[in-house]
Amino acid sequence: MSTENLTNLPSVAQQKLESSNTYGVQSACLHDQEIPELDLFSPLKIRDLTLRNRVAMSPMCQYSAENGVANDWHFVHLGSRAVGGAGLIMVEATAVTSQGRITPGDLGIWDDAHIEPLARIARFVRQQGAVVGIQLAHAGRKASSNLPWLGGKPLTPEQGAWETVAPSSIGFNENSPVPIALDERGIEEVITAFVTATERALQAGFQMIEIHAAHGYLLHSFLSPLSNQRTDNFGGSLENRMRLLLEVARRIRATIPEGMPLFVRISATDWVEGGWDIEQSVILSRELKVLGVDLIDVSTGGLVPHAKIPVDKGYQVPFAAKIRQEAQIYTAAVGLITEAEYANQIITRGCADLVLVGRELLRDPYWPIHAQCSLDEETDWPVAYGYAVKRQKRR
Ligand SMILES: Cc1cc2nc3c(=O)[nH]c(=O)nc-3n(C[C@H](O)[C@H](O)[C@H](O)COP(=O)(O)O)c2cc1C
Repeated sequence: MSTENLTNLPSVAQQKLESSNTYGVQSACLHDQEIPELDLFSPLKIRDLTLRNRVAMSPMCQYSAENGVANDWHFVHLGSRAVGGAGLIMVEATAVTSQGRITPGDLGIWDDAHIEPLARIARFVRQQGAVVGIQLAHAGRKASSNLPWLGGKPLTPEQGAWETVAPSSIGFNENSPVPIALDERGIEEVITAFVTATERALQAGFQMIEIHAAHGYLLHSFLSPLSNQRTDNFGGSLENRMRLLLEVARRIRATIPEGMPLFVRISATDWVEGGWDIEQSVILSRELKVLGVDLIDVSTGGLVPHAKIPVDKGYQVPFAAKIRQEAQIYTAAVGLITEAEYANQIITRGCADLVLVGRELLRDPYWPIHAQCSLDEETDWPVAYGYAVKRQKRR
């Protein structure tokens, strides 16, 4: 297979991914000769943890919490996808401080009261044979917004708006509040909040942690020169812009057990000239690997409202493939991956090590089992269903 297109990622001017008629899979792949025995339903071992397959539930905010506390909605939402066969269930962006919530409905982990409701979910997910992870997040300048189904706009003071923070005093758009630029003490408080959140996540029984450094939220906004115009140690050079994320990763790695995996979700490009891009993402991924990060979860965009993103089937897959190849680290592919055969090819052709499914799992909680059926694999129905539905199939 030709790997010619692997590094042929779009210039921002092109705004379009070069891809073959398999929508990026062929163009993105390298290792099909090396790992022909692996497919979507092969287990994935990272450190001491083994995922039963390579389908993960992508973190998806439900905006349904009160004061950050998980409730029955989160229990059923996450639990049903574990029943549905996903190998990894990733709890949505969970705010490490109340100020770091996108909306008043976000999950939180800034208080000990958050632990037990999350622990209940973690216990159930694990009982179903899935691995349970949590995405730790701080929304930065995109915090203090209304619920998406109420318009998603910045909250007004009457609606309970709160102060937002960022690397620099630059709002997300002209209607957004101008955030306060964090001073060094504020930055240290953010790092400490990620560490304390990690300790609570361990108490709740989570088996892996993902740091949310994508989609324009606080950690991503430090990476990108478009949102970070600081002149101190945390701005300017690439090294300085990466400093906060690298420090958060280093401190979390030092907090969790040696055998526990650590993922980082990044936006591999801002899709804007002069912004964060794939070359910087490769350098960042190498640095994260040195610090003991195990997997880069490769998304894109979200930093600025005017980016033109060529959204199409698997449009982010080539970024995952390039980081995997050039930083020699596990990657996860995500974004408009909806078909079993296509998801399988992402693994069999070595574009990524894990496939994250978002909205398609909202449409169909049993997507992994249905994918097994369509790929002629043995299905992993839960015991209480399997004896009944498999018997019907034999008739
Ligand atoms: C309702 C909803 C909530 C989301 N919340 C998060 C989140 O909490 N953290 C995150 O990193 N991405 C979040 N995303 C992005 C998804 O994880 C995923 O990357 C994106 O939807 C593309 O995958 P898909 O095409 O399979 O849905 C969210 C997406 C949706 C649709």
